[in-house]
Amino acid sequence: NSTLKTAFEDKFAIGTAMNAWQISGRDSAATKIIKDQFSAIVAENCMKSGRLQPEEGEFTFDLADQFVEFGEQNDMLINGHTLIWHSQAPRWFFTDAEGQDVSREVLIERMKTHIHTVVGRYKGRVDTWDVVNEAILDDGSYRESKFYQIIGEDFIKLAFQFTHEADPDAELYYNDYSMAEPGKREGVVRMVKKLQAEGVKIDGIGMQGHIGLHHPEIREFEKSLEAFADLGVEVMVTELDLTVLPSPWDDQGAEVSKNFDYEDKMNPFPNGLPDEVRDAFDARYLEFFALFLKHQDKISRVTLWGVADQHSWRNGWPIRGRTDYPLLFDRENKAKPIVEKLIK
Ligand code: XIL
Repeated sequence: NSTLKTAFEDKFAIGTAMNAWQISGRDSAATKIIKDQFSAIVAENCMKSGRLQPEEGEFTFDLADQFVEFGEQNDMLINGHTLIWHSQAPRWFFTDAEGQDVSREVLIERMKTHIHTVVGRYKGRVDTWDVVNEAILDDGSYRESKFYQIIGEDFIKLAFQFTHEADPDAELYYNDYSMAEPGKREGVVRMVKKLQAEGVKIDGIGMQGHIGLHHPEIREFEKSLEAFADLGVEVMVTELDLTVLPSPWDDQGAEVSKNFDYEDKMNPFPNGLPDEVRDAFDARYLEFFALFLKHQDKISRVTLWGVADQHSWRNGWPIRGRTDYPLLFDRENKAKPIVEKLIK
């Protein structure tokens, strides 16, 4: 085995997110890595609703088209991310000419048009869709998004139905973060069971993998993986990246954020990682991949949220302007030692 994709070939697809530079061919070093190492791709931003339909009825498909063509030319599994999400959605979607919230009927109609147009365009070409993203909070309750406030929880069911209408063969997923949280786990299980009871087609659950060195507890992540697989759907690990920087939420949860010293935690390793942090990074990735391999019968795809550290959104989240090291390739686009360890 000399690449990630051959190493995991019989186990699960191994994917990466692609940014605009990579999709449009302006980052040839990353493009080469993507072709050599990965068997699946997802668009980091260009398929979000604000990008695809910035104004009502005005769709901009250029980048998304190139993204899908790239996947086809390289014989990759193509994942569409994401149709219905409260974030990176255009404001017009929820408001009328006076800036007031639209009615339930209008919002449903807009969801339908958006989904039918986007999914219809890539019918038979995009293999899987993240139909709904991040609709449930860590305590298992529904997020008070505009979709939820205006339509009610049925927006989820409707989104899945519209997607299925537009491409009956596409696989349909629910995707979310903090999936190791017991409350979130229960909320997602409850929601999926309800969809299943209503006869709605849902094929899988994507567990975003924005992890830290200490958070989440791997056993809790595993419990969620098992609980989701027990629903009879596929599980995917999506958006995997491992921050080595201290987070206001690490270990102790949101409560400590008030006492978090942002100044002090700004850029602890601007010149690269000390050995002990690098070792912890490798150990943490190995621990998670060992878990994925243990459950390879349940997992269809593991996707990294980007190729190389310099482009990772983690440099700007949850604190802007930091230097982070979350991915498998370094700022010179070289494979980190962890790649060798993973493919062995
Ligand atoms: C992030 C992108 O990586 C950034 O470039 C963008 O500025 C914000 O969104 N959960 C998701 C992803 O589902 O779409 C987000 O991607 C990260 C969190």
